[in-house]
Amino acid sequence: ESTTELDISSIEPGQAIKAVFRKQPVFVRNLTQKEIDEANAVPLSILRDPQTLAERTKEGHHNLLVTMGVCTHLGCVPLGAAEGENKGEYGGYFCPCHGSSYDTAARIRKGPAPSNLVVPDYQFTTDTTILIG
Ligand code: FES
Repeated sequence: ESTTELDISSIEPGQAIKAVFRKQPVFVRNLTQKEIDEANAVPLSILRDPQTLAERTKEGHHNLLVTMGVCTHLGCVPLGAAEGENKGEYGGYFCPCHGSSYDTAARIRKGPAPSNLVVPDYQFTTDTTILIG
C-alpha cells in the first residue's frame, strides 16, 4: 500500500493542486469562504449523493477539500483543478467526457455521474501537510 504526502502550505484560497495517489489523480483544493458558503447553502434533499462539506473535510480544516480526480461516471479526469480550467456551472469540477458538473464540495450536481468525487482516506500530519492513504 503506497501513501502520498503533500505539502499544502502554498495552496492559496481559490487554488487547487493536482497530485497522484496510487497512480490516480487527486485534487487538493483550498476553498474560498464564498465556495464554502455556496456548498453549505445547498439543501441535502436536492443532492443525488447527499453529504455535507463538513462530512467531506476534516474538523478544523473545512476549507481543504481532498478528492480523487476521477469522475464517478466512467473515470475521466474532471477539469477545474488547474488555473483557468472550466469549473462547470456549479463552480467545482467539470467532466468534459459526458458533462458531469460537481459543486464546490465536489458533489455531483448534474450529468450522468452517480456519486460525488471520492474523498480518499487521509490525515493531517502537521497543519500544512497531509498524508493520503
Ligand atoms: Fe465523467 Fe462520463 S466520465 S461524465
